[in-house]
Amino acid sequence: MEFDFEKLAADDRYKLLTSTIVPRPIAWITTLSKNGVRNAAPFSFFNAMSKDPALLAVGIMADGDNSMKDTARNILDTREFVVNLVPRPAAEAMNLTSIDAPPEIDELSLAKLDTRPSLKVRPERIAISPVSFECRLHTPIELSNQLIAIGEVVQAHVADEVMLDPAKLYVDTPKLDLISRLHGRGLYGAAETTFQMPRPQSYEEMKKEKARV
Ligand SMILES: Cc1cc2nc3c(=O)[nH]c(=O)nc-3n(C[C@H](O)[C@H](O)[C@H](O)COP(=O)(O)O)c2cc1C
Repeated sequence: MEFDFEKLAADDRYKLLTSTIVPRPIAWITTLSKNGVRNAAPFSFFNAMSKDPALLAVGIMADGDNSMKDTARNILDTREFVVNLVPRPAAEAMNLTSIDAPPEIDELSLAKLDTRPSLKVRPERIAISPVSFECRLHTPIELSNQLIAIGEVVQAHVADEVMLDPAKLYVDTPKLDLISRLHGRGLYGAAETTFQMPRPQSYEEMKKEKARV
């Protein structure tokens, strides 16, 4: 079937996007308001975009009442945020921080989450997250009350116990036990089914190979 995205209602586009683009990693973002109130919320419109500079992007849509979400407002006001990745034991706390708490509520306290100071930005990182990326806002794309925040990672925290070989930067990725967002309401996945597939050889090698057979 074909779907004309230029004619579909936004909620219907959302349905098709989120039921097909899976799994999506979850950025559990911590920010500070300009008054210093701590905020945390999860976002699955998220991924890494480049390495030089190290950029990641997060899509923060407008709230149900069409206002700007606290995370978006805080990022625009302070130009700083931390992306914490979500291990399975943190699933419930992460979910709780998606609540529509008013801006004056400290959502880290609400979800009883321990934090650790960041090194280069003011928002703290979430202690239970095995990986946290401290970001400075690189490019804000503002679409009325939505924000696509492109952040530059300026510091990464990776828990000691998941580092296999710090000198070579080898991480024990399965040990991170990260969850991802799937289709439907409230469906999550973990990396349980995996398979290995080497990258294709170079085009030149492929031509030589074909010439041999
Ligand atoms: C797993 C998960 C993923 C989410 N992904 C997004 C997303 O990508 N974009 C978005 O705007 N809201 C997303 N939400 C909803 C926000 O977390 C929610 O609107 C939250 O209240 C925003 O908080 P804030 O106002 O403190 O920023 C997601 C919620 C959950 C539970």
